Amino acid sequence: MFSGAKPIIYMNNAATSWPKPPVVLAALTNSLSLPVFGSGRTTGSQGEDYITLARERLAAFFAVDRPEHIVFTQNATDSLNILIQGFLAGKKNGCHVLTTALDHNSVLRPLHEYEARHRIRLDVIPFEGCSVRPETVEAAIRPDTRLMVMTHGSNVLGSVQDIRAIGEILHDHGIYFIVDGAQTAGHIPIHLHHLPVDAFVFTGHKGLLGIPGTGGFWLKDPDAIAPVRFGGTGTDSFSLLHPREMPERFEIGTHNSPGLAALAAGVTFIVEKGIGALMKKAEKQTLFLIRELAQEDTISVYNGSPDLPIVAFNIRGLQNDDVGFMLARAYGIIARTGLHCAPLVHKAIDGGAGCVRLSLSWFTTDEECRITAHAIREIAYNANSSVSSS
Ligand SMILES: Cc1ncc(COP(=O)(O)O)c(C=O)c1O
Repeated sequence: MFSGAKPIIYMNNAATSWPKPPVVLAALTNSLSLPVFGSGRTTGSQGEDYITLARERLAAFFAVDRPEHIVFTQNATDSLNILIQGFLAGKKNGCHVLTTALDHNSVLRPLHEYEARHRIRLDVIPFEGCSVRPETVEAAIRPDTRLMVMTHGSNVLGSVQDIRAIGEILHDHGIYFIVDGAQTAGHIPIHLHHLPVDAFVFTGHKGLLGIPGTGGFWLKDPDAIAPVRFGGTGTDSFSLLHPREMPERFEIGTHNSPGLAALAAGVTFIVEKGIGALMKKAEKQTLFLIRELAQEDTISVYNGSPDLPIVAFNIRGLQNDDVGFMLARAYGIIARTGLHCAPLVHKAIDGGAGCVRLSLSWFTTDEECRITAHAIREIAYNANSSVSSS
């Protein structure tokens, strides 16, 4: 893989995927080559209505029958804030809320803000191995529990959580369930219609192969979430109150239509490749990397059999950011190091020190995996042989 003159191996796709498929880049350029067309807002444009196109493609991709229940936002974090704030707006006396130690700061921080303001009582459910057990969730439920927000896939451990079993337990207790699909959308099949989930969050720039600044959520029952942002929608403009219909209920101002054109193209790319083919390739390459790293007893891999193409590790005697620096400087390998915005995962697996994360995409080649494994083993060998000989 080449970036300008300097070859790089990009292993940071869980942060943001790169490269983007050529069809995504073409959609981006095409969308900017004609004036923006927004249904209901502009007359006489020859351009495509990329916003509706993206909504319809995502509705089909997530197997939901009402495209207008797909809402576009800036990213997963924005979606989570809208959903959490909108749900809690209707709970004037506060309530008990559950989340998990696997979660990202985009879930943990909004919830901890509410807890710090005494608006909710919060419990964080621990994980065992790489997963949150449904029985542990059930044991944490209290009479005043009204909401659970949790990640579908861990961005550090690459483990997909059993949201079906957890959702069934929550719904038996009348608890609202928001799922953060930032790491799973585009990587595994997700049929929301058949899942006990009330709201599902996605981001455009990771597995869905779109660009930063795009994302959204699917919402089963719009009335469960109060709108918390208001403004122009291009519809019902004489009304000085914001429309309550979907999707305008939650969408404000001018859309990122180039971004949504790119997102629609990313989804189509995945559908055409076939998610099964993507998963097969991802599994083969991820297990190869894990097997290779496990050959060195100085390397600790924290996720032996991930569901997503993510490998989390540390090398004995080295700081994770030093390993990242060596990988980048000596080998041109771009990994992510540190806490990955998931501090509670690291508290549990590495005492809070953080680790190195490799994350793959459809464009990762077998050769890149081979070079990466070799580089990491070499760094581990050199570090530990110099320690033992000094
Ligand atoms: C599990 C998880 N949730 C949420 C996010 C935030 O995504 P975004 O950058 O789209 O806000 C990330 C991205 O790092 C993530 O890994």
